[in-house]
Amino acid sequence: MQRDIEAVLIDRHAIARRIGELAQTIVRDLAPGTSSADDAHPVITLVPVLTGSIIFVSDLIRHMPLRMQIRLISITSYPGASTSSQGAKLRGGLTSLPESLAGAHVLLIDDILDSGKTLTLACEEIAKRGPASVKTCVLLRKQRPEAAKFPVDYVCFDIPDKFVVGYGLDCNDYYRNLPDIVTLRPEVLARLAAEAASP
Ligand code: IMP
Ligand code: MG
Repeated sequence: MQRDIEAVLIDRHAIARRIGELAQTIVRDLAPGTSSADDAHPVITLVPVLTGSIIFVSDLIRHMPLRMQIRLISITSYPGASTSSQGAKLRGGLTSLPESLAGAHVLLIDDILDSGKTLTLACEEIAKRGPASVKTCVLLRKQRPEAAKFPVDYVCFDIPDKFVVGYGLDCNDYYRNLPDIVTLRPEVLARLAAEAASP
């Protein structure tokens, strides 16, 4: 896996530092004046988007001493080794979103904001369920016009418009377990695309 890496864009230490900071900001906004899990404050409903956000969410929530419930939603838009969005689709069976979110303060979390289709679809699914409020949070936002148009509340890092993997992000479902956020060598991307295309 290591030899497939072209460059490290954001290393594990920078990720850990920034996640600590971002968690503090989120906690201050969602539960002003609270610093402990025992304080009275609204319960948060976290909605991570599977699969790319799993590592980000698991690190982020351990810096958030709030009463929270986790409800998963699964959306796919980069099937196989695609490196551009093929349109966001819900993966039906893989969700634990309840039929109603009445009264819930939702924090929707995804790995990366690229075309904005994934978050748009997730926001629609959440809105149908009547929550009290919805905020959005992403690990990465690509510097491209479509991403800038989507009004996301919390961004861990703005990155150049490049295809990245690691720390939950994949190519053909590989590399999610890399601890750093990296780019892949062009010949590796070509090989994975060929693998994904063959039956
Ligand atoms: P959007 O719907 O185009 O905003 O893209 C969001 C989804 O596409 C993310 O949840 C990722 O699963 C996937 N994605 C977008 N860019 C990348 C990337 O650079 N690497 C890996 N996955 C990506
Ligand atoms: Mg995703």
